[in-house]
Amino acid sequence: MKKICIIGASGKLGQYMVGHALDRGYAVVGVCRERSVGKLDEFKGRITVIPGATNDRQVIEKAVAGCDGVLTVLVPWGRQHYSTGTAQAVLNYAPPGARLIFSCGWHITRDGKDVYPRSLKAQEKIGRWIGRLTGFVDIDDQIEACRRVFASDTLWTVVRGSDLEEGESQGLPVWSRHVGDPILESNITRRVDFALFMVAALENDELIHEAPAIVGCQTPSALAHAA
Ligand SMILES: NC(=O)c1ccc[n+]([C@@H]2O[C@H](COP(=O)([O-])OP(=O)(O)OC[C@H]3O[C@@H](n4cnc5c(N)ncnc54)[C@H](OP(=O)(O)O)[C@@H]3O)[C@@H](O)[C@H]2O)c1
Repeated sequence: MKKICIIGASGKLGQYMVGHALDRGYAVVGVCRERSVGKLDEFKGRITVIPGATNDRQVIEKAVAGCDGVLTVLVPWGRQHYSTGTAQAVLNYAPPGARLIFSCGWHITRDGKDVYPRSLKAQEKIGRWIGRLTGFVDIDDQIEACRRVFASDTLWTVVRGSDLEEGESQGLPVWSRHVGDPILESNITRRVDFALFMVAALENDELIHEAPAIVGCQTPSALAHAA
């Protein structure tokens, strides 16, 4: 794998992914909103930046051309089907055989077998309520985006992040198929390591057609499971 595209490169997760991808020697194309290009200044001269909305099909078509892998930050912002538009454009335009890695949270379920902590159910309820009230958030659109990914015959992986925190890397997170599995109980991952998992997934064929729910490898539940 030589060339990859990062869609949503200017966000917190995106910037960490750019760093990890450069460390691994990939040629990187990053897509971000025009007004956010400056957030990628520290990578100037080392990556190609394509400004534009991530649900703009022409932008995505241009950005993913010739890429062996695409890392997509799926965000539930707004009322314009931003998440669905982004995912659909990647599914349509990524070269056949490219590895496609999408980010989301534990709230996405692939098979309905996840068992959620009460706190997460409450968070989702509040998110929906705020979304309905303000129009800033559309969780159902992110759910629909992931449903389309799951149904596609591309080489996809959907990485489901736990609660996130900042801090130094602790190493590659551990994962499990279902929220509720004991190894995930700590429900916390460093954002830098979420990004590491996304980038490492590009070369991990065991993750093809999986929706790993991740947790930090140094958390109590991960360590207890390792023991
Ligand atoms: N935050 C959490 O606690 C959490 C927990 C689990 C999973 N996740 C998942 O992690 C991923 C990254 O989330 P994050 O919270 O860490 O955020 P983030 O990395 O900072 O990413 C936010 C992204 O959304 C874009 N964005 C912000 N406002 C927007 C708008 N109005 N319209 C379009 N795009 C907009 C940002 O672009 P600009 O740079 O242009 O602003 C950026 O690319 C997501 O897939 C999320 O579902 C997050």
